Amino acid sequence: MQSDKTFATRFGVIAATVGSAVGLGNIWRFPYECGANGGSAFLLAYIGFVIVLGIPVICAEFVVGRASGTNVAGAFRKLGAGRLWQSIGVMGITASFFIMGFYSVVAGWCMDYIWQSATGFGGVASQTELHTRFDEIVASPLRPVAWTIAFLVVNFMVISRGVQKGIERISNLLMPLLFVILAVFCVNSLLMPGAAEGMAFLFKPDFSKLDGDALLSAMGQAFFSLSVGMGALITYSSYFSKKTSLVKTAGITAALDTLVAVMAAIVIFPACFSFGQEPAAGPRLVFEVLPSIFMSLPGGQIWGTMFFILLFVASLTSTISLSEVVIACMEGEWKMSRGKATLIEGGAVTVMAVLSSLSFGALSGWTIFGMNFFNLLDFLSSNILLPAGGVLISIYVGWVLDRRIVSRQLTPPGHTRSVWVAPVSFCLRFIAPPAILAIFIFGLL
Ligand code: TRP
Repeated sequence: MQSDKTFATRFGVIAATVGSAVGLGNIWRFPYECGANGGSAFLLAYIGFVIVLGIPVICAEFVVGRASGTNVAGAFRKLGAGRLWQSIGVMGITASFFIMGFYSVVAGWCMDYIWQSATGFGGVASQTELHTRFDEIVASPLRPVAWTIAFLVVNFMVISRGVQKGIERISNLLMPLLFVILAVFCVNSLLMPGAAEGMAFLFKPDFSKLDGDALLSAMGQAFFSLSVGMGALITYSSYFSKKTSLVKTAGITAALDTLVAVMAAIVIFPACFSFGQEPAAGPRLVFEVLPSIFMSLPGGQIWGTMFFILLFVASLTSTISLSEVVIACMEGEWKMSRGKATLIEGGAVTVMAVLSSLSFGALSGWTIFGMNFFNLLDFLSSNILLPAGGVLISIYVGWVLDRRIVSRQLTPPGHTRSVWVAPVSFCLRFIAPPAILAIFIFGLL
């Protein structure tokens, strides 16, 4: 029993952690945020935030997770932290439900689009038709709900198999597959006529576009994409062995996560420019613009099917990490069996997800603060819970937790104090808290 609570191999550690980070955030959200915020300037700001905020906060979560060796509800108590810090666990559990509630709906749309691409969208091909098609699909009463539930069933079946046999095994299998599919798409994209224009949009810096809004979006995107701020990485690092180097794992995760986001942008922008379409189409970019492009290519059905399989694979390893936060608490704190915890958590998430799926159709009249339920869940988690969690975790590891614990965790066994302890601590103390507070405040304005 206890032995299943660690990842078996070093490859498994990286596959699971990168699997958590790489998801809809990289392939669905990054390209449209980047497209809407001026392309290259957004990319540079994003990379800056990943380095000065992302990597240090990942390290902070890793320190808490491995030093305590337990779930988010128990970790801070075990390290002797007071009530305020223990509330990070409660926020993490809440954020897990909220994110699962909207994320699994988008993942359900992806599964639907695998099927639709395979059947050539029933002959529909123009962008206008695909636009209407997307609206009809998300608003229909049964279809998206059924796909979302199908997605959740797969997710919880994997989770119920445990850390090594479930999470680690599926990540080992799916992450290499994801990189291979994405690489094929990149090559194809670079051969398109609009490649040069797409690459210039992505890589030729135009700093005039870098306003306050773009900066804030870039910072929020970095947090979401790296899976930081709600304890998913605390939970995973409680499964790391003493031999895992935390700083190296954080660096590799951040690098691969950013690579996937850039690769996704390389797939999408040249295609947009080749076909004279808008890179700033927003959340519907991959569901509307890409299918219309694929359908006009030779072998379009295969490209489309492969692309949505890619999105499905990416979202599955992310939702696994999101749900594991809660499952680990139920097992560790309330001593439930994994099977029972999976059923209860699965049921609760299904209710949230069904409501959020219906909020595009039957329940669209039901709004809270002017948002439908789906957008409310996204807003509360990305704009409130994640930044609040990020600030608290940084301050806790930067200022409150015993320096010796931090230094010991960040130094691989058998080494003298790692050179990374000082810069990571500096960022956690002086850079992350004020910078994240800034998003928080501007984000709410
Ligand atoms: N990082 C994932 C993505 O980019 C989403 C995700 C998984 C996440 N676990 C998380 C986001 C924890 C915030 C916190 O799609």
